[in-house]
Amino acid sequence: MNEPIQVAESGPHRLRAFIAAMTRLVDAAEGDEARILAGGRPLLAGLVAVDDWLPEAYAQPDPVHYRQYLLHCDPLERFSLVSFVWGPGQRTPIHDHTVWGLIGVLRGAEEAELFTPGGLPHPTGRERLEAGMVDAVSPRIGDIHRVSNAYADRVSISIHVYGANIGAVSRHVFDAATGAPKGFVSGYANETLPNPWRN
Ligand code: FE2
Repeated sequence: MNEPIQVAESGPHRLRAFIAAMTRLVDAAEGDEARILAGGRPLLAGLVAVDDWLPEAYAQPDPVHYRQYLLHCDPLERFSLVSFVWGPGQRTPIHDHTVWGLIGVLRGAEEAELFTPGGLPHPTGRERLEAGMVDAVSPRIGDIHRVSNAYADRVSISIHVYGANIGAVSRHVFDAATGAPKGFVSGYANETLPNPWRN
């Protein structure tokens, strides 16, 4: 196992330390998903434990739709880091990911309905993630869900790590009435990236 990285500094240092630690982890794990999820979970928990590092530009909600901002993409596209910003009451369609993912709540809370491919469009479970909590998805352990801001009156923000350049991945949304799949590529809301390398 890769040595644990303590994310102790504040502001951009926290994001920088996470990127370095995650890069070391995917290097060492050589594609072993279970090892990446086990090692990445405490790293992401450390990142979302303190809400002092996400630049305001990547925490802005849209009045109508949730937003996904890219914060960092590994140069080899082995992982990407995004901020998911929920306006009050916003939610995703039912969707899959096709790659591993880790979800950590930085601000507010989110609720997820969980689905299995054979059970669509009926949920098989629900969970609520509060600030500081981390969950995992992957095709191996289940990666179809519908996620909502748990609050109708304020913004929630979660930080996600995915095992690819997630904005460019071909995946699926599922019709809420029939479960029928439709292809989609999420893209990103931002044209520029935060600078975690400044002091
Ligand atoms: Fe998702």
